[in-house]
Parts: sequence; structure tokens; C-alpha cells
Amino acid sequence: MPTSLPALAFGGDYNPEQWPAAAHEEDRTLMGEAGVDLVTLGVFSWAWLQPTPDTWDFAWLDEQMDGLHAAGIKVDLATATASPPPWLTHRHPEMLPVTHDGRTLFPGGRQAFCPSSPVYREHALALCTALAERYHDHPALALWHVSNELGCHNARCYCDVSAAAFRTWLRRRYGEDVARLNDAWGTAFWSQRYDDFEQVLPPRLAPTHANPTQQLDFLRFSSDQLLDNFVVERDVLHRISPGVPVTTNFMVMRQTMEMDYLRWGRELDVVSNDHYLIAAEESGHRELAFSADLTRGTADGRPWLLMEHSTSAVNWQPRNRAKRPGEMVRNSLAHVAHGADAVLFFQWRASRAGAEKFHSGLLPHAGTDTRQWREVVELSRVLDAVEEAAGSTPRNEAAVLFDYEAWWGCQLDSHPSIDVSYRDRAEDLHRALSAQGVGVDVVHPGTDLSGYRLVVVPTLYLVSDEHAAAIAAAAEAGATVVVTYFSGIVDENDHVRLGGYPGAFRDLLGVRTTELLPLLAGETVQVDGLGTGTVTADTWAEDLELVGAEAVATHLGGPASGLPAVTRREVGEGTAWYVATRLDAVGTDRLVERLVAETGIERLPGAGPLVEVTRRVGEDAQWLFVINHGHAQAEVPVHGVELVSGADVTGSLVVPAGGVAVVREDVTGQDREA
Ligand code: GAL
Ligand code: ZN
Repeated sequence: MPTSLPALAFGGDYNPEQWPAAAHEEDRTLMGEAGVDLVTLGVFSWAWLQPTPDTWDFAWLDEQMDGLHAAGIKVDLATATASPPPWLTHRHPEMLPVTHDGRTLFPGGRQAFCPSSPVYREHALALCTALAERYHDHPALALWHVSNELGCHNARCYCDVSAAAFRTWLRRRYGEDVARLNDAWGTAFWSQRYDDFEQVLPPRLAPTHANPTQQLDFLRFSSDQLLDNFVVERDVLHRISPGVPVTTNFMVMRQTMEMDYLRWGRELDVVSNDHYLIAAEESGHRELAFSADLTRGTADGRPWLLMEHSTSAVNWQPRNRAKRPGEMVRNSLAHVAHGADAVLFFQWRASRAGAEKFHSGLLPHAGTDTRQWREVVELSRVLDAVEEAAGSTPRNEAAVLFDYEAWWGCQLDSHPSIDVSYRDRAEDLHRALSAQGVGVDVVHPGTDLSGYRLVVVPTLYLVSDEHAAAIAAAAEAGATVVVTYFSGIVDENDHVRLGGYPGAFRDLLGVRTTELLPLLAGETVQVDGLGTGTVTADTWAEDLELVGAEAVATHLGGPASGLPAVTRREVGEGTAWYVATRLDAVGTDRLVERLVAETGIERLPGAGPLVEVTRRVGEDAQWLFVINHGHAQAEVPVHGVELVSGADVTGSLVVPAGGVAVVREDVTGQDREA
């Protein structure tokens, strides 16, 4: 973690421009009380910094920077380019984004710009340059924050400017050769053959299904354009403000799939992420754990910053559930448990006007005489107590492979079943492994897999030859590899791999499927062979024959009655499993039990379905994080010092229902990880 940042920073977005000057004094006093040491400033301040095309106003920001510095608070300074001011879009309506059905998205909300707009870029870079020149050596400056959640509302723009940029991107991808584009896009189908790049458009609303490879390339292009917006600002900052790290906040969470963050990560000096729970989901902590592990994957295993989450309710879901007592502390510490080195929130003070006025903040509308505020102060104390773990990171022997391109491909239209969801198997296997105390890394298929004893390959619909070979090599070398249905189906161009499914993994798995047999809505089948009695499956089945694999479990009924549902094959030093149906949670748990036993993988002490346990490993010490999501106390066999309470733990730690604990473990040289 860059040294300019406080260890295990605590704070959030600070939008002083929404408040009269009198509030600012109080803000700093209360930030002091709450132990805030890092704030993100200026995210939506463009119209304040550049009120007209030819005037700049930095006085208020100078005052903020100086005042925060005097209060001992560091600043993550935004480049303020996230939301263009009305004067700019009024002058240049051609920079407004357009949806796939041709509707312009107008100003009045935020992020009303086309990511490919040269006008936007010119003005954004002027602002970024002005800020860098003014603040590059300000003592409060700890981090640069480019834009905000790039692509949150404008990830895909279908305007004419974007169309031209898409063609430029395609010319590069296909080496100026339109025949290559025709091949890749399979345009022999439906008379789609192009005679010149000039004829190519984004996949705008069409009479029926748009060409899938056109859609896929447009998703790649759109992600690249957004990343480019980051890169050009970053380069300005590196030039004018060398030594100050640059980030932009990702949105690694369930519903966000437009940006290929596993490729973006390497462009950032430090990865930061925003995470919001879906309030309607009771078991949101599982999605949180998965997303946090994926965020660490984007950061190549290094610690990262939790740039935003919420103290309580948000405003943008249909029903915005408030967090219950203790929930914020558990959520925050869970991010730290999975590698976050900062706990920041949106936002410091709950707004009194604007679309987000019902969004919680560190300082609620009701003020400081509230349970919410007391929990904020308590969280800050907890973070101080566990600060020594900053800089360490989880190191695991199990990997779940995740690929945004496979996600895009998997969710395209015209597939065998709309019930196949890309994140579904990944999250469920991650859940089952975590429940058994197996720490999991969520990584790109191009990652070096040699350190993993267990490699889970969920729904890798689209896979390159290279990645498929690396997965097979991991099994050969001794790993247990588990592939789930609708994997290995197509290549990078979304062309089916012929000869039987699951194309790219057929040889590795020793199976050959001649027909996909998706189930109907609500249809379930029983699967026999995973422990005592049957388990239930839905969504998927296959007409699968064994070509070297053994059947572990079999469909009893349904379209694949009597056929294998789970298979296993010994490969070199390792094994390769295939799961040809969507097992329910019980089935997944039983499968995972067998995998864990087969691999002999290390299990963290005390973990269970509702007791989340992770270990962060540093240079000279390691810390066991325990988060008890359940209604019963948890007992964890461990030796060491529990940092939240300061208590010595000799053999057994009791974590109360809803409680958290962090133990610096006593380890002998023997069982200490290298
Ligand atoms: C994020 C955004 C913040 C705020 C927050 C509300 O998308 O970066 O500015 O809008 O959500 O949950
Ligand atoms: Zn556009």
C-alpha cells in the first residue's frame, strides 16, 4: 500500500459544497471524534471548480485542503471529471450519451457524457491538469481519484461518435482487414457480410437478435474506452504529480459486469472498490465475500481500498433496508478480512437535498445522538485495534476462475436457457468452500495457477485455447480441477467448439456431450451419488457420455435420466471433475466436501455456514479474522491475541452472535505459512 495513505484508513466521500460554511467547522470536529483520517474530496465538483467555460474557482477547495490538513486528515482528491457541468453539455450536446434504441440521455442526473467524446476528454483533461498543477504538492494529498465509477451509468454509448470510435477499434483489432471481421463475426449468417468498415455500427436496436460477436466486441470496446478515460487522466497525474498514487473506484459487486476489472487492475497504482449489498438478499454477506475476493483478484492479490460502502440504507433500490445493529461493523470488517486496507463510505454527511438524501452517511440526519453514530465511532475503534494487519493479504490454495469476457459471452441472448447465470455457480462454490474453511482467491484464467491445489472453473462459457490449456496443465501437475456446465463452449469469437460439448474441456474431463438438455422453469430432478440420499438439481442437464471419466452422480429422472450428472477423471498427478447440472446448496456442499477431502487442502479453524473465517498473512505475523453472521456464539480453536478486545486466547476463542474478532495468531515455525 502506498505510504502516502494512512494504515487501514477510515473515512469517506466528503461533499462540503453541499453545505454552508458553518457546517465545515463542525465536520472537522466530528471527523476528529470519529477518527476519520482519509476523505475523498471533489468527486462531483466540476461545476464548482469551473463555474463557466472561462472561469476557475479553487478558493473553496484550497480552504478545504488546508482545513483538512490542519485537522490531520488526508485527502483522496478527485479529478472531478465524473459529471460534466450543464454549461458544457449545453454548448456541446453532441457529447451526450445515446442508448441502444437511440434515446439521448440528458443532463440533470450525473455522468451525462459519451465515453468516446473528444469534447468531453479535452475538457476533462484541462480540469485534471489544473487540479494536478494546483495540488500536486499539497501536504494533505494522499491519493488521486480519477473520475468516479467509470461506466456506472454510461458504460455503453451507441451515438455516432461512439460508432466511429468503435470502427477505429475494430480496424485495429482486425488489422484493417474487413474479411477478418467477417470471419470473426460469422457474417455469412443472415446476410450480414460487410464490404467496408464504414458500414459497421454498434449493436443498436435491431428487428431481432443482433450478431453475438458484434455485441461481444462492442462490450470489449466499451470497456476499453472507459479504461482509456482513466489512463489519459492517470498519465497527466503521473507527469505533474509524480509519486502520488492514482486510483479509480471499481464497482465489483453482483450486478456490475460492464467493465473488465481483471484487466483494468494492472493500470491502477492501487485498486479501490465500491461495494453495496442488495438489501433484499438475506445472505448478502456471501456476495460481499465473493466480491471482496474478486476485488483482490483485480489487485493481483495485493491489498486494496474499500472506497465506498454504506453505513446503513442506500436510496437506489426499490426497498432500502436499513442495516441492523452490528451489521455495518461486520460488513466493514469482512472487507478487511478479504484484503481491504481502508474502510471508506459514501458519504460523510447524509445529504439534505438531491437524489441521495435518503442514503445513509457516517453522520446521519438525526445527528450524533444516534445508535448509527455510536456504531461509526465503535467501528473506527475496531479498525484502530486491528490496524497492524494492514499490508498483509490472504494467501489461499483454492482458486475460482473468473473472466468478464466469459460473463459477457454467457449472458448474450439466444442461448439454451435464460436461467444460466454467470456468477451463480462461482458464488455458490465459493460459498460452500468458505463454509468449510477453505480460503478462496477469485482470479482471471490467465493467472499462474501453479500454487493452487483446487481450481474451480464455473460457467467458463467462452475460453481461449491458451486458458483452456493452462487449466488442463494445472490438473496434470496435481491440482483438482472442477468445471461446471456451459463451460468451454465457444472460442474468443463466440464460435462453437465442434465435436461435442464442453468443447475446450472435453479431453481434460473425459466426457462428451452430444446435446444440451436445459430444464424448464421450476423443473427439478433428483441426483444420486453425492452421499446418502439424493440431492436436487435444476436448470441444466446434458446428454453426456463417458470417455475416460467415471460417473460420480447420476440423474434420476428428467431429460438426462440415468445419465451422469457429476463425473471425475484422474489426469496426470491430479483430477478433473465435471458438474453437468445445477446442484442445489446441499448438493454443492456435498460435492465440495469430497473435493476438500481429495485435495487435503488446509481448512481455517472454526469456519461454518454463518461463521466467516479468513487469514491475512504478513511478513512476520498472520491474523485470523472471524465474522459471526449467525444467531449463536461461535467457538474457534486458535492461540494468540484477540485484537478487538485485547484478550489473550489460549486454544479457544468465543465470538458472540453477530460479533467480530481478529486474532494475531501464535504460530510455531512449523505450521506458520511461508
Ligand atoms: C456510488 C457512487 C456514489 C453514490 C453511491 C450511493 O455509485 O459512486 O457517488 O452515488 O453510489 O450508493
Ligand atoms: Zn457515444
